[in-house]
Amino acid sequence: MTATILSIRVLHVLLGALWVGAVAITALFLDPTVREMGPEGGRMMGILQRRGFQRTILIVATLTVLTGVWLLWRLSGGFSSSFMGSRAGVVLSTGGLLGTIALLIGAHVVTPTGKRLGALGARLAEAGTPPSPEDLADVARLQRRLTVALRIVATLVSVTVALMALGPHL
Ligand code: HEM
Repeated sequence: MTATILSIRVLHVLLGALWVGAVAITALFLDPTVREMGPEGGRMMGILQRRGFQRTILIVATLTVLTGVWLLWRLSGGFSSSFMGSRAGVVLSTGGLLGTIALLIGAHVVTPTGKRLGALGARLAEAGTPPSPEDLADVARLQRRLTVALRIVATLVSVTVALMALGPHL
């Protein structure tokens, strides 16, 4: 393997590990904490967003998928049907597909919902008056959607990394 291939492989594994770790911490610890805090949780989401938390995870996830597609293209000799139909090909491409779906849910559900929760939390904090029943319903609805989406993404990337660990060795 050339130095370029090895470096892209190392980069892929590092990025993938960072993505899975970030999703696990968010789903297992950050999200339940935000829920327990109620409207104040929205303010915490706003601070995380201002610090670039969601944006950073999205960049890491996108680079994981892009380096993964490149590795798959290289390993399969340009997505040859003989490789893609082999056990290694099926396992790696299934892992790749699940990872890509996790990225899309992250980009189109987790990030926008986190942004809306952050904006709502900031507005409620600035208002200085108790939140209205409608506001509380909005916070609860957005928190529920965030929790469900995070659990789906956490499951998808966990299965992806398991398939990745198997794929190259089949
Ligand atoms: C959560 C996302 C991902 C993680 C954590 C991850 C992790 C890994 C790991 C740890 C390996 C090395 C396995 C080994 O050699 O034992 C690997 C290899 C590989 N990954 Fe991923 N991966 C992810 C997503 C993807 C995606 C989305 C694709 C493709 C679209 C992909 C394609 C590949 C390929 C082709 C290899 C084999 C590379 C080679 O042997 O040259 N990965 N991945």
